[in-house]
Amino acid sequence: MDEYHKKEFAIMDYLHIVSLELRKQLGQYATPIEIVRYIVKSVEYIPSKSILQKRLIDPACGSGAFLGEACRVYLNALKKAAIPISEWYPMIISAICGIDIDPKACFFARLNLAMLLAPPILEFISKNTIAKLKPLPIHCADTLHLLASRRKSIPLFYDRISIPLEDQFDFVVGNPPYYKIKNLEQNIKNTFTESIYGHPNAYALFIHAGIEMLRTHGRLGFIVPRSMLSGLYFKNLREFIEKKTAIKEIVNISDRKNIFDGVLHGTMILSLKRGKQNDEKINISLVKTLEDIRDQHRAVIVDRNEVVQQLNGTTVWFVADSLDVYNILSKIIKGSPLLSGNQINYRAKTGQIVWNRVKPLLSTQKEPDTLPLVWATDVGKFSFSFNRMGIARPCFLKSNSKTKQLIVKGLCILVQRVTADEQPSRIIACIPEELCKKEHDGYFVENHLNIIQPTNESNTIDLYFILGILNSDVVDFFFRTMNGNTQVSATELNLLPIPTGKSDDKIAEIAKEIQVVEEAKRKKLFTELNVLVAKAYGLNMNELRFIKNHLNERKYDNSGD
Ligand SMILES: C[S@@+](CC[C@H](N)C(=O)[O-])C[C@H]1O[C@@H](n2cnc3c(N)ncnc32)[C@H](O)[C@@H]1O
Repeated sequence: MDEYHKKEFAIMDYLHIVSLELRKQLGQYATPIEIVRYIVKSVEYIPSKSILQKRLIDPACGSGAFLGEACRVYLNALKKAAIPISEWYPMIISAICGIDIDPKACFFARLNLAMLLAPPILEFISKNTIAKLKPLPIHCADTLHLLASRRKSIPLFYDRISIPLEDQFDFVVGNPPYYKIKNLEQNIKNTFTESIYGHPNAYALFIHAGIEMLRTHGRLGFIVPRSMLSGLYFKNLREFIEKKTAIKEIVNISDRKNIFDGVLHGTMILSLKRGKQNDEKINISLVKTLEDIRDQHRAVIVDRNEVVQQLNGTTVWFVADSLDVYNILSKIIKGSPLLSGNQINYRAKTGQIVWNRVKPLLSTQKEPDTLPLVWATDVGKFSFSFNRMGIARPCFLKSNSKTKQLIVKGLCILVQRVTADEQPSRIIACIPEELCKKEHDGYFVENHLNIIQPTNESNTIDLYFILGILNSDVVDFFFRTMNGNTQVSATELNLLPIPTGKSDDKIAEIAKEIQVVEEAKRKKLFTELNVLVAKAYGLNMNELRFIKNHLNERKYDNSGD
């Protein structure tokens, strides 16, 4: 009996022993107990009388990590309410339920809960002469199909147990699977159409499904990738969440290496409440490690409008842990037009050469029918070195009928597409001027780079001005709060505010100089550039100092540009 009141109940986990293939296919990663406990608490599932008549579900329950914690809390609530043990079992099985697509995971979840609940089960049996004990409510099914088919009343062959899902739960908790869904079936598409944009990720559909499962004022708590904060493919999901729920809490977890076994994932805890609220406030915090999650950490309470920002008809969620950051972000956003807007008229797009699709056309030497191929490794912050990797990477590509339409012509800015939070800069950009000028027939750009060019030839805004803005500390600061993953997507670049009309010429001049001067002189010029850019955004020197300190606080590794 003492087991119930222990702070932690250690479950037997099955997810860490599954094959790598299944793991990837079904997104099977065990959730650390610190996160499980935090989420359960953050949706206010606490040992009080109020939860006794309420229902909780984990729609992707794995071995039952969340269900075990929820049971522990529920048992404590039963004990506090002085309900006789013989009555506990029927109450628990109508209050807590789980679904998983993997029968082995369901088996382990049942085993874990059966161990945790053994005393109330025995007590129940001894006091009630029943022929058959009702089973633990762990259902083996595809949650997304279950919801989709219930809506259309199509019976599922494996859905032997009836589990109505829509508007049925007060709490939805868990760690939904993360994987791209390649072939979307029509009934799933129809059910989740409101939140789908492009190729959906399973976790986005689980968030949608979770919201549908909630009763009004019900609470959802998931750990999900941070890519949903700004990614284009999640724009409809963000809108769906904004429309249907109040965002209660976001905990940004900066440790990407040690949360899930063997994968690098930028994650966050997202806590929602079904139904809209006036004067919505969001609790935001940034934590570095699992220990920080366990301990009490500092949170800031922010107006929803500061977090959810409208940029060019789409919303992006900005996550930062201080009101000073939000004040600066507001100034940057409100004062300047966007890169792709009709005042600036520039457009970022992704490099189109996916090297392994054109392998036979690659070459390490220039030949009459080849053009240079620029790789991400050639691009540094204000520096460009064609073929930096030498023969390790073929730097020419045949121009033929297949590749011709992928040629880039004229001057451009190249921006690295994959940079991590730990790196000194998230935006690493340069203008490969010599290459652009020498190669009249054009050049190819590999897929790990973005290309920025003016949308029309008569554009009078200097490319070097844009380069100076992009490589500045202010933009790096802005981008870090806007972007939650390791991608620097063309969409996000297109949404960057560009402060034109103040010191454009001077900024362009300095950016051009930084690209050519020797290393020793760069630092001074870079400082000058940062001051000019900050002023152009309407920021004062205290705010620039704040930005610098904020950037310096991040732990850099040496894998930067
Ligand atoms: C990230 S794991 C989380 C497991 C568990 N909640 C935990 O925290 O340890 C995701 C789980 O979702 C399950 N899953 C994947 N696709 C599913 C689907 N369509 N319907 C139901 N479960 C699914 C996987 O089998 C896996 O157990």
